[in-house]
Amino acid sequence: MEIKSLLIGNTVVVFDEEIMDKLSDSYNMFVKSNVLMIKRKDLMDNNCHSFENIIFFGITPNTLADVEYINQVCPKMVYWYDEVTNQLNPIIYSLYDGNLSVAKLPFSMMMQNIERRFLFELAKRVSHHESIFEIGRNSGGSTLALALGNQEKHNLSVLVSLDILHNPLYDYYAKKYEVIKKIKCFVQDSKTFDWKGENKNLPIGLLWIDGEHTYNGCKSDIERYKGFLSDGGMIAVHDYGSGNPEIAGIMKAVHESIVEDDNFENFCVIGSIFFAQKKGGKQILDTKNLSLEKSIPYYILEYLRHYTPVFNSKIAIYGTGFQSLDIFCMAKQYGLEKNIVAFVDDFSMQKTFYNLPIISLSETKSMNIEHILIGSKDHEESMAQKLKTSGWSEKDFTRIYTAEAFKNFIASGKNIYRFESSRWNELFIFDRNLGE
Ligand SMILES: C[S@@+](CC[C@H](N)C(=O)[O-])C[C@H]1O[C@@H](n2cnc3c(N)ncnc32)[C@H](O)[C@@H]1O
Repeated sequence: MEIKSLLIGNTVVVFDEEIMDKLSDSYNMFVKSNVLMIKRKDLMDNNCHSFENIIFFGITPNTLADVEYINQVCPKMVYWYDEVTNQLNPIIYSLYDGNLSVAKLPFSMMMQNIERRFLFELAKRVSHHESIFEIGRNSGGSTLALALGNQEKHNLSVLVSLDILHNPLYDYYAKKYEVIKKIKCFVQDSKTFDWKGENKNLPIGLLWIDGEHTYNGCKSDIERYKGFLSDGGMIAVHDYGSGNPEIAGIMKAVHESIVEDDNFENFCVIGSIFFAQKKGGKQILDTKNLSLEKSIPYYILEYLRHYTPVFNSKIAIYGTGFQSLDIFCMAKQYGLEKNIVAFVDDFSMQKTFYNLPIISLSETKSMNIEHILIGSKDHEESMAQKLKTSGWSEKDFTRIYTAEAFKNFIASGKNIYRFESSRWNELFIFDRNLGE
């Protein structure tokens, strides 16, 4: 994002005097540009303006005052300006997504707007004979999307919201939104929560999982509650497919406990929400606007585990792009990252990638690398040629994406559709239960 274009627009900059460096070039740039600059502590006194953009300078919006201010100003975009890297980062959970027709959902720290709108739409499709169950409420961004969506259709169905901790920001929303009073709110651990006891076996029409972001936590949440889903009931899991190695276990849990479970169908990914339905109901999403996306890291790892005995050897991944990172993330979930000792990249300016050394092709032999995984969809052939010229033989490296066996393996897997967020308006959602 070009910062100059924002500085001539209708923009306000929020800064924190305690933290900022007033002598920095970026501070001077803002001051000289004549945009309105508001101290964070004075936000509450400045809530009458209507700005298109808000830039948080050197700070992320995470206080009650920030959230309240954003909700009142309702800007098109919210950014935070990172003084260290000099970068202006759009905040993914911005309010604006090009279409304001949906009920205005309050600013949430945790979710992209398209994801909250998706939940809002799904919640509309939950009937009175079913419940909505949320695991991981935090400040209530998703809770409100679910409640407002469901309420738009009829009086709120039973909405049970669970979190192991209470976030005071939730109280802020509770004061503003009447609907929150109707939510059955629990502060409990999802690993021990007694759904049956609390809800008398009421079927779950929509199970929304955004709790503990580990493999074990996510797997336990799916396994413990999926049996309560109604026929055609929806399950949605947040933060699926993340490039962040710390939460890559969610993908593994989702595959094992949903995709590989024959009771589920209609798999798709919207934003970072994995969605599926229990068999036996009407299909919610029309897949004609979705593209097939199977070549995901999970399949790569499964493939390597099934077809290539590479994981007993000392491995390097060729490339330092996001595909290499994806492979590394999933390898970590299988406890295989200890075999991966380096990334290979002759042109990298950095020395390390995810705490592993980046080495040149010529160093692969001196480091006693035994196997190389080529982790690039587009450059596998040229990388393979380079390896061969450097003395590597075909049997000691794996071209993941282009291997015939991998393509066959992928073809035999279940369909997972992915949706492009820019095409939100084209996404047609069938009206399951909407007629009631
Ligand atoms: C990413 S936040 C949820 C964000 C929320 N859905 C939103 O949109 O704002 C994850 C939440 O899960 C909660 N959590 C973590 N482990 C949990 C557990 N075992 N049981 C219940 N909640 C848990 C955390 O306290 C945290 O508030």
